[in-house]
Amino acid sequence: MRKKLAAGNWKMNGLQENLHEIKLLSKYANTATCEVLICPPATLLQSMNAISSRIAVGGQTCHTETSGAHTGDISAQMLADSGATYVILGHSERRSDCNETDAVVRTKTKAAWAAGLTAIVCIGESLSEREASNTIDIIGGQLAASVPDKATGENLVIAYEPIWAIGTGLTPSLDQIGEVHDFIRARLERRFGAGVGRSVRILYGGSMNPKNATDIAQVSNVDGGLVGGASLKAADFSYIIKALG
Ligand code: 13P
Repeated sequence: MRKKLAAGNWKMNGLQENLHEIKLLSKYANTATCEVLICPPATLLQSMNAISSRIAVGGQTCHTETSGAHTGDISAQMLADSGATYVILGHSERRSDCNETDAVVRTKTKAAWAAGLTAIVCIGESLSEREASNTIDIIGGQLAASVPDKATGENLVIAYEPIWAIGTGLTPSLDQIGEVHDFIRARLERRFGAGVGRSVRILYGGSMNPKNATDIAQVSNVDGGLVGGASLKAADFSYIIKALG
């Protein structure tokens, strides 16, 4: 059985003074049956990791190389060294802000695996792609090109994040979420075999909040959430943890 994952992406938010939210959150994480993960800015990884053994921490990107002359960048090995066990890769904000292509995401995923991290590979369509009925094609293409061979249920998580749902308060219908998640599952099984394909978790992300989390959590092949805004406050994120069990 796939263990549900409640993952928070703090994006470029969070100072030392915000760590008290994690102290508050640990109370809920202690009684949760799902796995709880927060991906803070790299500056908070170590101090956040020290707060609760029930809350895993992860990075928000990593370089393709282990070390070297890449001013301002951070390697997967450095994330692991700071206590991270996960890293988000190919988030749509990095694809648009930093021109990350599927090929770059694939190389970064290999780097994450080499450092022992679980990669959360993000894929998702734009509004114009959805309106042109291209969602499934786009998702299939991103999935094939962003994920390297040798995926397992331990080293890979897929996050379906429709770009138009991120930070907008808009979400796809439950049927639309189910259609994409079922498609991703089928593609994973076809490429990696039924055993591995069924063990990779598929998260939904995009305006997930305390109000819609329970419904989204019931959709077939939704194994958790990748949550932005609603992960910043323990009071909100605790509802999402509860919804995921
Ligand atoms: P929001 O939950 O703020 O829409 O962000 C989703 C997201 O991008 C998580 O990676």
